[in-house]
Amino acid sequence: MNQNRQQRRTLMQAVVGLAMGALIPLGAAQAADPVKVGMMLPATGTFAALGTAIDNAFKLYVEEQGGKLAGREIQYFAVDDESDPAKATENANRLVTRDRVDVLVGTVHSGVALAMARVARGRDTLFIVPNAGADDLTGQLCAPNLFRTSFSNWQPAYAMGKATAGMGHKTAVTLTWNYAAGQEAVKGFKQAFEEAGGKVVKELATPFPNVEFQPFLTEIAAIKPDAVYVFFAGGGAVKFVKDYVAAGLKDSVPLYSSGFLTDGTLAAMGGAGEGLVTALHYADGLDNAKDKAFRAAYQAKYGMAPDVYAVQGYDAAQLLHKGLEAVGGDMSKKAEMRAAMRGATIDSPRGAFTLSKAHNPVQDIYLRKAQGNLNPVSGIAAAKLDDPATGCNM
Ligand code: PHB
Repeated sequence: MNQNRQQRRTLMQAVVGLAMGALIPLGAAQAADPVKVGMMLPATGTFAALGTAIDNAFKLYVEEQGGKLAGREIQYFAVDDESDPAKATENANRLVTRDRVDVLVGTVHSGVALAMARVARGRDTLFIVPNAGADDLTGQLCAPNLFRTSFSNWQPAYAMGKATAGMGHKTAVTLTWNYAAGQEAVKGFKQAFEEAGGKVVKELATPFPNVEFQPFLTEIAAIKPDAVYVFFAGGGAVKFVKDYVAAGLKDSVPLYSSGFLTDGTLAAMGGAGEGLVTALHYADGLDNAKDKAFRAAYQAKYGMAPDVYAVQGYDAAQLLHKGLEAVGGDMSKKAEMRAAMRGATIDSPRGAFTLSKAHNPVQDIYLRKAQGNLNPVSGIAAAKLDDPATGCNM
C-alpha cells in the first residue's frame, strides 16, 4: 500500500472510531496497521546466500505465528545493500526516512551495519542486527534502540584462539579480508592465542571482497607456522578453502577459523572443507528440541538445511516478537518494549540465550569439525561467552 492510501486508511479508521462514540480504544487504529519491517540485507555479491538465509528464516518465524506478531500484520520493505559500505547510509535512509519503517533489520557486513547504526540512532528507530559482528555495535555505539541476535566478531575468534593454543600449536599466521570483521576476528584470536602462550608471527590481509589468495598461500608455505587462522565467509570462503587445498597446505599447516568459513559453504567446496575445525555459536547435531523443529520447518519450506545465518534471522524475529508482546503490539511504548527485549530469554535453535547489558548474546561457542556438508559439534570452546563491550556506557 502506498503512503497516501495508508494515511487515508488510518484517518478513516480514526473517524469511524469517533463516530462509534470512541468505543474503539486509543491505539486501535495503529493496531490495524502493519508493523513495517525494513530488511536491509545483501541479495548480490559474496554474501548473497547469507542475506537470503536471514530473510528466509525471519519470515519463517513470522509465518509460524500466523503472519502476525502480537496481533499485528508484518509488512516488509527490502533493500539489497550489496555489502557495500559506500551505499549504506543512503540505503538505510531509504528505509528509515522514506519508507518510515518501524524496525530496521540488517545486515551481514560489519561496515554496512555500522552506517545503519548511525542512521537508526538519528531517528531512534529500533534496529536489530541479525549478523554483522562489528564489536563497536555493542561497544562504543551501543544504544537503547540497537539489539544484536548474532555475535560480536570477538566471540568466536577468541574461542578459536583459546582452542588453537589448547591443541598445542605455538605459532600462527592470520589472514583475512581487511575490514572491521576480519580485523576484529584476528584481534580476538590473537588475544586468546597469545594469552595461552602462542605467538601470531604474521598478520596478512587483503581488501574485501578480493579472492586472489595465491601470494598469501606462497608466504604461508614459506613461513611454515604451526597453524593458520582466517576470517572468510560466503563465496570468498569457498574460494579460499579450495585454494588452500590446491596449494597443498591443508595436510601440512592446519587451518582454523571462526565457523563462518564452513557454515553454508561446505557443499560448494566439494569436499575441500572436510575435517576443518572451527568455532561458532551454532553447529549441526545440537541436542535440543527447538533446533530439531526449526531445521525440519526450514528444510520443508526452503528445501535446504538452515545455517547459522538462518538461526540469527529466526532469532531476530523472535526478539521482535518478545518486544511487541510486552506492549500488546503498541510500538509507541518504546521504553517498555525495549526493556522487554533487553530482558528476554530467546529460545534459539543454537540453545537458549540472554542478552548482555550492551544487547549482545551471551552464548556458548561450539567447536565443530566438518564432515560431509555438516559441521557437527565436537565440544564447547567457550561456555556462556560474554563480549567485553568495550566503550559501551549504557
Ligand atoms: C561481518 O562483516 O561482520 C561478517 C560477515 C560475514 C560473516 C560474519 C561476519 O559470516
